[in-house]
Amino acid sequence: MHIFIDTADVAELDSLAETGLVDGVTTNPSLIAKAGKAILPTLKEICALVPGPVSGEVVAVNSADMLKEAEVLSALAPNIVIKLPLTMEGLKACKALSERGVKTNVTLCFSAVQALMAAKAGATFISPFIGRLDDNGQDGMGLIREIREIYDNYGFETQILAASIRTTGHVRDAALAGADCATIPPAIFKALYKHVLTDLGLEAFLKDWAATGQSIT
Ligand code: G3P
Repeated sequence: MHIFIDTADVAELDSLAETGLVDGVTTNPSLIAKAGKAILPTLKEICALVPGPVSGEVVAVNSADMLKEAEVLSALAPNIVIKLPLTMEGLKACKALSERGVKTNVTLCFSAVQALMAAKAGATFISPFIGRLDDNGQDGMGLIREIREIYDNYGFETQILAASIRTTGHVRDAALAGADCATIPPAIFKALYKHVLTDLGLEAFLKDWAATGQSIT
């Protein structure tokens, strides 16, 4: 499973990218606003930090203007992915971009039929929002399973990018459900490698080792 980080905070991303385990980055207008910096230089910096796919989202609502914004975003770096909303206009733009070989991420997906339409429009990634569905009393992970089945039924190559992740359990369940990628907030990424028994076990190993007086190097 590919692990993307869902952030526009360049400093935080820098420290996470040092692990070598960050495969890509997703941003959205809210994350850009939260970072408080200009969108274009921010995306350029992120693209230089992480060589994998970096999603930059359009804010236009009609396809012609989305395509103009996509041109500006694409010029930033070769690893930019154009993120488009799951609307009719967004899908029109997605189809046009995919025909030109431009990578796309169709976002704000809340149903399996929306994901079907995005795949038909040639989306590189589909972003089902698990957490927001759960917040709304619906089954976010069930949506990932449905999309996996539909894409496998027809051989669609669109990659399922589980988004709106709230917990490490979401990451586990998305992996079990066959999501191709998950985009994860920095705090959840840091929690993925933590376990209290790992910490306790290591403490005991080091204590026993110190008592031997040995050294390996
Ligand atoms: O970037 C899209 C998605 O991951 C947003 O998550 O937490 O705002 O629902 P959230």
